[in-house]
Amino acid sequence: METKLIKIKDSANIKDVELAEAAEVIRRGGLVAFPTETVYGLGANALNEDAARKIYAAKGRPSDNPLIAHISSMEELAPLVSEIPEAGRRLAEAYWPGPLTLVFPKSGLVPYGTTGGLDTVAVRMPSDPVASRLIALAGVPVAAPSANTSGRPSPTTARHVWQDMNGRIDMILDGGPVGIGVESTIVDVSGSVPVLLRPGAVTMEMLEKTVGHVEIDPAIQGPPREDLRPKAPGMKYRHYAPHGDLVLVEGAGMEAVISRINGLAKEKTDQGFRVGIICTDETMGRYRWGQVRSVGMRAKEETIAHNLFAVLREFDDLKTDYIYSESFSREHLGQAIMNRLTKAAGYHVIRV
Ligand code: TXA
Ligand code: MG
Repeated sequence: METKLIKIKDSANIKDVELAEAAEVIRRGGLVAFPTETVYGLGANALNEDAARKIYAAKGRPSDNPLIAHISSMEELAPLVSEIPEAGRRLAEAYWPGPLTLVFPKSGLVPYGTTGGLDTVAVRMPSDPVASRLIALAGVPVAAPSANTSGRPSPTTARHVWQDMNGRIDMILDGGPVGIGVESTIVDVSGSVPVLLRPGAVTMEMLEKTVGHVEIDPAIQGPPREDLRPKAPGMKYRHYAPHGDLVLVEGAGMEAVISRINGLAKEKTDQGFRVGIICTDETMGRYRWGQVRSVGMRAKEETIAHNLFAVLREFDDLKTDYIYSESFSREHLGQAIMNRLTKAAGYHVIRV
């Protein structure tokens, strides 16, 4: 299949004619990758099981892993769900459009092919103008997982999507690099207490300010356990296993962290391995071995979220054997950053 790449000139002033063909592809049951404010999504008609099947095939994704249905206005929510619980209504009012996905009991309209057989459906209203307008023009809810091959970091640029999806999907809309860089926060509002299933840019503090107490799915707090299944099926996968061996070095004192990473990097370099280091602008000048990449500024954690997946992809492209990373605060957006990073490292953390 030939994949058509369409460059969006000015996302903020997107014209409908630029999206007409993409909307038509989705209506016909095809696949279109598009930017959102979190990561690039791989979109298809959420009400069409055959289209959903194509998503799983293009990504090489297990079909028990449900898809998020994306909408462009509040009126599009009611037909997809059997009930809108109070907490869901409040969170949607507070944070939609934006990087928040809510899990509701599903209606009969949503096929099990989209929900991976579950009786719930995950819904998100993205704020990115290209995503929002595309969904509105398609006239159907758009099922969209991150537009990466299963097991690769989520794409934050159209080039990342091209690397993984060229020849496998109908079209890619290039709207430039995304803003946030980590996937949406997922909250299950189908039970009596809202439960955080995946941390993201809508932080625990923001959620609790709106609906009071929010529980955290215990299965997302540490290494996978046989007896603890994550409520978001996708969270049980290693998700992203880098080509190289990724290790996080964590400690109260930055000097100890730097010195341990330098020691490990020297040892592996001396043994002839390709070594990568993930650090920050503040510490960039302190490392002496391997390929050193700053992921952003500690003082501005949103820069770290923004660059994280691109840096991990770069080390994959460089076929790095060992990657040593500084670790970050788990507060606020740091909860999402550390969730993705510790998972990518297979929970291999050295404490100094
Ligand atoms: O930011 C995002 O959410 C991006 C953009 C494209 O919107 N999408 C995204 O989709 O990250 P994906 O498929 O890569 O991750 C969706 C996660 C998976 O872990 C999946 O298991 C979970 O959402 N999920 C989907 N439906 C669910 C449901 N009904 N109940 C629990 N978890 C669900
Ligand atoms: Mg994904």
